[in-house]
Amino acid sequence: MNDGSVTREGIRIHQPEDFAGMHKAGALAAQILDELAPMVAPGTTTGSLDDYIRDRIEAAGATSATIGYRGYQHASCISVNHVVCHGIPGDKLLKDGDILNIDVTVIVDGWFGDTSRMYIAGKPSVKSRRLVQVTHDALMKGIEAVKPGATFGDIGWAIQEYVESNRMSVVRDFCGHGLGRVFHAPPNVLHFGRPGKGPVLEEGMFFTIEPMVNLGRPETKVLADDWTAVTRDKSLSAQFEHSIGVTASGAEIFTLSPEGRFFPDLD
Ligand code: MF3
Ligand code: CO
Ligand code: CO
Repeated sequence: MNDGSVTREGIRIHQPEDFAGMHKAGALAAQILDELAPMVAPGTTTGSLDDYIRDRIEAAGATSATIGYRGYQHASCISVNHVVCHGIPGDKLLKDGDILNIDVTVIVDGWFGDTSRMYIAGKPSVKSRRLVQVTHDALMKGIEAVKPGATFGDIGWAIQEYVESNRMSVVRDFCGHGLGRVFHAPPNVLHFGRPGKGPVLEEGMFFTIEPMVNLGRPETKVLADDWTAVTRDKSLSAQFEHSIGVTASGAEIFTLSPEGRFFPDLD
């Protein structure tokens, strides 16, 4: 293990005892996402889901990392259908067949737990089920590429290759990030790339992998609210996110679902 604590790319190397802090923060974020699953249904508002998240974080004695972050006012981002990421919760009603990503970041004892997953209101279409499945599996392929000595390009390539072989596209305008005692730290974790390129992974690195996948073209634009990112071609978009740590032999996923609900019940 590198005890110099930061690589020349600015990536922090954490100590073995730091994994426990990340595990605790990640578990709370994942637990909250589990609790939301039965609440997502046609007729629910995304604002009411966010109210639940805010109250639940407070009840746990934790802190929302997003409230007050660069002026953001909510405890989650909720991105429906063609919204790629950073959707703002509000009073719009979910309708049958909507697909949505809920992204929650909590701070517990100073450690950040950042995770998101897809939910479906009512009955999904065949194409939205496929999008959600491919996006989930793409995240897992990225995580499988994580081990000391591999590179960030290996992660990006694993994701890109899988998504494109399913004739979908990887969003390039947003990326994963280092985290730990900070929300967003080096490196930028790209969800596309080339094997062997990019910084080398070392035990003790903590970062997110959070691929966004579109059914259509990869281009996005940010709406006038300065947050909401949508697909330019209005195609459906999906995302899953885990916070992970590099171990001696692979990855520890800090944001595993306690109830095994990370993937939505599709029927
Ligand atoms: N949780 C998001 C991420 O995965 C960041 C949201 S920042 C916010 O990095 F301000 F939009 F909430
Ligand atoms: Co993130
Ligand atoms: Co997130």
